[in-house]
Amino acid sequence: MIYNNAESMVGDTPLLKINCEELKNATVYVKMESCNPTGSIKDRACLSNIHDAINSEKLRPGKTILDASSGNMACALAYFGSMMGYPVKVICNTKLTADKRDFIEYFGAELEVFGDLTIQGNRMCNELAQTEEGKEKYCFLDQLHNPANPLASYNTLGPEILKEIPDVAAIVGSMGSGGSMCGLSRYIKEQNPNIKIFTSEADTGTKIPGTGSFVDGEYVTPFITELRTRVDDSFLVNQSQAENRTEQLAKQGVFAGFQAGGVLEALIRGVQKHNIEGNVVMVIGDAGWKNMEKLKQLIKK
Ligand SMILES: Cc1ncc(COP(=O)(O)O)c(C=O)c1O
Repeated sequence: MIYNNAESMVGDTPLLKINCEELKNATVYVKMESCNPTGSIKDRACLSNIHDAINSEKLRPGKTILDASSGNMACALAYFGSMMGYPVKVICNTKLTADKRDFIEYFGAELEVFGDLTIQGNRMCNELAQTEEGKEKYCFLDQLHNPANPLASYNTLGPEILKEIPDVAAIVGSMGSGGSMCGLSRYIKEQNPNIKIFTSEADTGTKIPGTGSFVDGEYVTPFITELRTRVDDSFLVNQSQAENRTEQLAKQGVFAGFQAGGVLEALIRGVQKHNIEGNVVMVIGDAGWKNMEKLKQLIKK
């Protein structure tokens, strides 16, 4: 396959069939969002938000792209911003791994770490973009509220899954901004309301990138509010469940961060509770590479 630019490498990620002994009547496929150019699902929303800003002339040459992120969106902005010739400033929080920090800095973006939650960085971006200097300097993409974010998955991720597996019985993923699952579920339920949508959420005291900890007061974006009107069930996942399932995935060749383990845990519980039979798709958020600092805690001595 020949690509003429890195942007066109986003999406059309493979689906990997895995064995899941816990489930006798369901076949599990992993949507390998780790295969996007920066190794995460956020490449889709990043491109969508940037193109929308360019088309609406909010983003013009000379402006600096600004946004808050738990890490993967920041990586995607740093990468595509540098390629398109826009300086990038990102505000991340304590969920940021050292590997993501290095990635962001390697691609030349300015990075600030502030607070435990993306909404804190989002408010900081809002304030920065409102100052006299900021109005001129920044284009705040505001992934937590930008409708172009869920549109990315509505236009790409949802159609890709249905094209490959038209009889899919259930789709499972996690919510950070909620944009990916919001857009995906909007598309899927429009096409076939019988397809079940399940989500994973972080349990009390659990910090998993890309998996909101709403029980601990994490900000509920408009996309999550919309998504909750369509979700058939949601499952709380704790750190050790996510770790064990991430290891289970690794043994099947799915090299991913803890978000993926959390999604597999939700998938198994969802399929069992709702007696799902047939093909089930889980959406993983990213690859293991940017999470090695956390994954290496699992190395058996
Ligand atoms: C690893 C991972 N998975 C999933 C997501 C969820 O994406 P969204 O913000 O679209 O809900 C993110 C977002 O940060 C992520 O980093």
